[in-house]
Amino acid sequence: MGFSFRPVTKCAIVLVFLLSSFSFSSTDAYDPLDPNGNITIKWDVISWTPDGYVAVVTIFNFQKYRHIQAPGWSLGWTWAKKEVIWDMVGSQTTEQGDCSRFKGNIPHCCKKVPTVVDLLPGTPYNQQIANCCKGGVISSWVQDPANSASSFQLSVGDAGTSNRTVTPPKNFTLKAPGPGYTCGPARIVRPTKFVSQDGRRVTQAMMTWNVLCTYSQFLAQKTPTCCVSLSSFYNNTIVPCPTCSCGCQKSITQPGSCVDPKSPHLASKHGYAPLVKCTSHMCPIRVHWHVKLNYKDYWWVKVTITNFNYNMNYTQWNLVVQHPNFDNLTRVSGFNYKRLTPYADINATAMLWGVKFHNDVLRQAGRYGNVHSELLFRKDKSTFTFEKGWAFPRRIYFNGDFCIMPSPDAYPFVPNNSSYPQ
Ligand SMILES: *[C@@H]1O[C@H](CO)[C@@H](O)[C@H](O)[C@H]1NC(C)=O
Ligand SMILES: *[C@@H]1O[C@H](CO)[C@@H](O)[C@H](O)[C@H]1NC(C)=O
Ligand SMILES: *[C@@H]1O[C@H](CO)[C@@H](O)[C@H](O)[C@H]1NC(C)=O
Ligand SMILES: *[C@@H]1O[C@H](CO)[C@@H](O)[C@H](O)[C@H]1NC(C)=O
Ligand SMILES: *[C@@H]1O[C@H](CO)[C@@H](O)[C@H](O)[C@H]1NC(C)=O
Ligand SMILES: *[C@@H]1O[C@H](CO)[C@@H](O)[C@H](O)[C@H]1NC(C)=O
Ligand SMILES: *[C@@H]1O[C@H](CO)[C@@H](O)[C@H](O)[C@H]1NC(C)=O
Ligand SMILES: *[C@@H]1O[C@H](CO)[C@@H](O)[C@H](O)[C@H]1NC(C)=O
Ligand SMILES: *[C@@H]1O[C@H](CO)[C@@H](O)[C@H](O)[C@H]1NC(C)=O
Repeated sequence: MGFSFRPVTKCAIVLVFLLSSFSFSSTDAYDPLDPNGNITIKWDVISWTPDGYVAVVTIFNFQKYRHIQAPGWSLGWTWAKKEVIWDMVGSQTTEQGDCSRFKGNIPHCCKKVPTVVDLLPGTPYNQQIANCCKGGVISSWVQDPANSASSFQLSVGDAGTSNRTVTPPKNFTLKAPGPGYTCGPARIVRPTKFVSQDGRRVTQAMMTWNVLCTYSQFLAQKTPTCCVSLSSFYNNTIVPCPTCSCGCQKSITQPGSCVDPKSPHLASKHGYAPLVKCTSHMCPIRVHWHVKLNYKDYWWVKVTITNFNYNMNYTQWNLVVQHPNFDNLTRVSGFNYKRLTPYADINATAMLWGVKFHNDVLRQAGRYGNVHSELLFRKDKSTFTFEKGWAFPRRIYFNGDFCIMPSPDAYPFVPNNSSYPQ
């Protein structure tokens, strides 16, 4: 048997998220720049049905600078009993599974371990709910909080039909789309309250459970994807990315693992695996930091991000940079900017990202495959110096992944006979 239910958008409800209802679990993924960063999956049972319930599942990205880009998330779990999914709005399972025990109405999915993916933009309105249908893309929390959640609705059959008989699914897995996230068990929390759009009525879920997922670069086991090169006005040496930062060009294990830009024939694209231009560093992304100008009270830096990956337009890219002078950043041209560590500290950290419709997409390798910005810093006379590479960043992350820096002893240094105002 099937049910008809109205997509939740029609009820015009606004989700109110009870932050207080989280519980902690141990995590090995501690990130000092984003210590509470997590993805929380909230499962709200909206109504009971004769053989189960209708729920709205929302994936909240509470990570400051890690987003989920195309081809988007996929979410899996193991049903506790013999549950089936009658119907879904705003998403679908990748496989239906064996529904041969059903006659008449056939469920959307009968698998014990379903895998759910978001629908694509342009899905007909009657198959959408709020926060769905973005191809699984979820923004980071700092960059675009309004788009930092993704929702879908499902109607579950052969399940418990009250808060005493229903059992939350187990073994949640979140792929983004690769590995990296670990999800804890579902925890029953206080039912979510929904405030109507005009703010005049509050309704609440029948029952709510949360699943907490955390990211670990170690689990993702990615090779580095990004490196840093440096230059300055006071020394014409350009310090390149360290050789083999992300791989070696003549790697015996992966011959032909890069593309010669001179050869007109690019290898055929397969999936989202990087297809990088042949360079000494072999990184898909290079961040170049150029100390450009020096005035009495100010100094300028030009930051350029170059894409060497022919197989990827990085949408909603972001950069996290540590440099002591971010305490006194005065102007940023062309990028958005936010301090991540709001209080003065020796490794002040800032997040930079593109301006929507202008440079928020870092285009694939080639002529248009770069974005840049100029940063104007006000000198704090007590700390400012060009000596010992002080003007160069301490750490850089691209899309949340650590970038390989040149070794500090290779940094361009100020010629002995120079007399720059400092
Ligand atoms: C998950 O993120 C939210 C929002 O920052 C935070 O309130 C919550 O404490 C975090 N949970 C954990 C377990 O860190
Ligand atoms: C189930 O619902 C009843 C009221 O309908 C409530 O008193 C009880 O606390 C709920 N139990 C759980 C586990 O949510
Ligand atoms: C959950 O996963 C663990 C480890 O992968 C496995 O041992 C366990 O049997 C799974 N539980 C269920 C209910 O599938
Ligand atoms: C990147 O975007 C450009 C312009 O929108 C498009 O022509 C190109 O096919 C895209 N490349 C990839 C790998 O998606
Ligand atoms: C600041 O950055 C340096 C270089 O990465 C590191 O050695 C140091 O521990 C950091 N200090 C703090 C307080 O984070
Ligand atoms: C730089 O920022 C710090 C911390 O915000 C502040 O104490 C200091 O006065 C600033 N210096 C200048 C020159 O603006
Ligand atoms: C520029 O810096 C490099 C170190 O990266 C150094 O070898 C070179 O001597 C410097 N140039 C001058 C003119 O000081
Ligand atoms: C510059 O000065 C440093 C010490 O102050 C010295 O080690 C280095 O050899 C000098 N370099 C040149 C090019 O004179
Ligand atoms: C510094 O020394 C370099 C080579 O030793 C020379 O080419 C340059 O003109 C000198 N600069 C100044 C400001 O004296």
